[in-house]
Amino acid sequence: MSNSNKVAWVIGASSGIGAGLANRLAKRGYEVAISARRQERLEEIAHNNNRLHAFALDVSDAAGTKAVFEAVEKELGPVDLVVFGAANWQPNTVAEYDPEAFRNVFTVNFLGAVNTVAAVLPSMKARRSGEIALIASVAGYFGIPASGAYGAAKASLIHFAETAHTELEPYGIRVRLVNPGFVKTDLTAKNDFPMPFILELDDAVDRLVRGLLDTDKFEVAFPRRFVWLLKLVKLLPYPLFFAGMRRVLPSSDGKSKEGQKEKGEDGR
Ligand SMILES: NC(=O)c1ccc[n+]([C@@H]2O[C@H](COP(=O)([O-])OP(=O)(O)OC[C@H]3O[C@@H](n4cnc5c(N)ncnc54)[C@H](OP(=O)(O)O)[C@@H]3O)[C@@H](O)[C@H]2O)c1
Repeated sequence: MSNSNKVAWVIGASSGIGAGLANRLAKRGYEVAISARRQERLEEIAHNNNRLHAFALDVSDAAGTKAVFEAVEKELGPVDLVVFGAANWQPNTVAEYDPEAFRNVFTVNFLGAVNTVAAVLPSMKARRSGEIALIASVAGYFGIPASGAYGAAKASLIHFAETAHTELEPYGIRVRLVNPGFVKTDLTAKNDFPMPFILELDDAVDRLVRGLLDTDKFEVAFPRRFVWLLKLVKLLPYPLFFAGMRRVLPSSDGKSKEGQKEKGEDGR
């Protein structure tokens, strides 16, 4: 199907999955507005591709997000597809629970999505069309040690997407959920724990584009084997679930017990 004349808005597009997705959407014929806080990065990305258009924004600013959306529609026309992928990630454990860290993560990863949906709703409702894809994470499936703030914000985003999907369907608006496993990006570069089934960025973006453009599934989740494994873990009775989670509990040096065991076995 031709996507010429279609318009997409990708938020979190100055690096990683969002930048990769924006480029692929442009190749598939979309005019793509790209947003994030770093204006120069956005301009660099847009420089060699006349289908990419930089619109800097901070998603924690509800009024600013709405104003940018209106500017996008004024310049490019009605937005058909919005992809929300802005996020920050910091590991945090019980020992160092810091309300400020939770506030920061929820403000961007969860409330940023709410601000985005609120910004696009009036236009999409009036047109009775539009698609909104929210990038959460498999980290939102259940409570994982060291992922308190990030995991809780992603779990909230999954709930929000499920609710919005049902509520917005009668208005002709499709809400979809993206749950990636580990992907090699700036976000994961700082992790010093094992990341099973980690994907190269290009591979992840391929799977994302196929899921969003070539299927109509509500949840686009990958890699499939990791996703199914985690969905099975979610079904375990709590005693078994917690026995498994104890194995990934970080020790005081921040390394997971599973990771330490793996390192020991390798003789490193
Ligand atoms: N990599 C993984 O393993 C993985 C796994 C599961 C889910 N995800 C999710 O996939 C999405 C993309 O992540 P990534 O791995 O590609 O990470 P990334 O390269 O760090 O991308 C995060 C993006 O969010 C933007 N951002 C952060 N705070 C923002 C704010 N306040 N306002 C607007 N934009 C903001 C960043 O740009 P600026 O700094 O320029 O604002 C950047 O473009 C995220 O939602 C992440 O949680 C990633």
